[in-house]
Amino acid sequence: MPVHNLHNKPFDEGTQDKLELYREYLREWLPVFIHGPSLNSINVFDFFAGPGFDMDGKPGSPVITCEEIKEALIKNDKKGVTIKVYLNEKDSDKYNSLLHYVEEQKATLPKVSFSTLQKDFHIAFEEWSPDMHGRVANLLFLDQNGVKEISKPIFQSIIRLPKTDFLFFISSAMVNRFKNQPEICERVPVTDEDYSRMNGTNVHRIVADSYRRWIPDGLKYYLGSFSIRKQKGANVYGLVFGSGHPLGIDKFLNVAWKHGGDANFDIDNDKIDPSQPSLFPEMDKPSKISAFEKELESAILCGHLKTNKELYIFSLQNGMLGSHARKAFDLLIKDKKLPKQALHISYDAWKKTDVERVILK
Ligand SMILES: C[S@@+](CC[C@H](N)C(=O)[O-])C[C@H]1O[C@@H](n2cnc3c(N)ncnc32)[C@H](O)[C@@H]1O
Repeated sequence: MPVHNLHNKPFDEGTQDKLELYREYLREWLPVFIHGPSLNSINVFDFFAGPGFDMDGKPGSPVITCEEIKEALIKNDKKGVTIKVYLNEKDSDKYNSLLHYVEEQKATLPKVSFSTLQKDFHIAFEEWSPDMHGRVANLLFLDQNGVKEISKPIFQSIIRLPKTDFLFFISSAMVNRFKNQPEICERVPVTDEDYSRMNGTNVHRIVADSYRRWIPDGLKYYLGSFSIRKQKGANVYGLVFGSGHPLGIDKFLNVAWKHGGDANFDIDNDKIDPSQPSLFPEMDKPSKISAFEKELESAILCGHLKTNKELYIFSLQNGMLGSHARKAFDLLIKDKKLPKQALHISYDAWKKTDVERVILK
């Protein structure tokens, strides 16, 4: 399988989109734990860190991490917060330039402690695993090349960690292209039925969704995804996000919806032009939202969803925000599809803060 070296040319738009999602999630994630109940440390792990920059000096993930921590500490400084940054990069040239960058950062980030390794991902993961346990919060960024590093044991050990969110990259187009190679079959939970539904556009949605199969029964866990297509190329790849907490996935989805929902392109071929609204507002609605409205309606009518909290969780599990569920619910009332008095949903009480309070209990 081909391995691309991301750093011997300027980052393309797809790579920049990926890094922008990482940046925005980090921006949401850091304050939650800086302000939250006191922890021994807030840990950011970047296992495939690269040298820090692309050829043109555009920031890579380690630089983004440091920039966002600096900003977060300016805005949210709180005594006693310890932040640890863990950076691993296997390639020696890239590692050396990474080290150089880290040395420079130590002066401007005195509250942050840095650990660096120049090891294969699996060795680094094992070495740093003990630091992921205890009174800590972890964010793991796993920007692998291709598809092969996030094996089932790695995935399952990550999702069992408390207070841990992860973002990993996967080249889904490669999964589709090399589906007959044993390396692929062993490394991703994709089935023959998945392959039969795959096309060049939906491939990342299907690959990302297939990871649900690796979540053990009974474990509450939330997965999200974002598909990325390079503007000129046909290759679709993207990010898979995971969190054991509804607020984690809520924050990820908020970031994702700022960038179009679950893709940086018109994944459902909706061809909506906001500058030219059609006569029928329904036609200006993305298919993903229309499909969700239908699913929500039937889940309520069949009695599967009975409370605010259930509606909220249902929306997150479907890659949608609480605000989408609220609008869908409003529409059902407006269209008189739901006899309101027959519902157990105390809809009037639905405010995001209420929902958060319920969930945080
Ligand atoms: C996609 S790039 C990551 C880019 C980085 N996040 C950035 O923003 O610049 C993947 C990086 O992981 C390194 N790498 C590849 N295989 C690795 C492995 N098995 N263990 C550790 N690092 C690896 C590569 O040298 C490369 O720099």
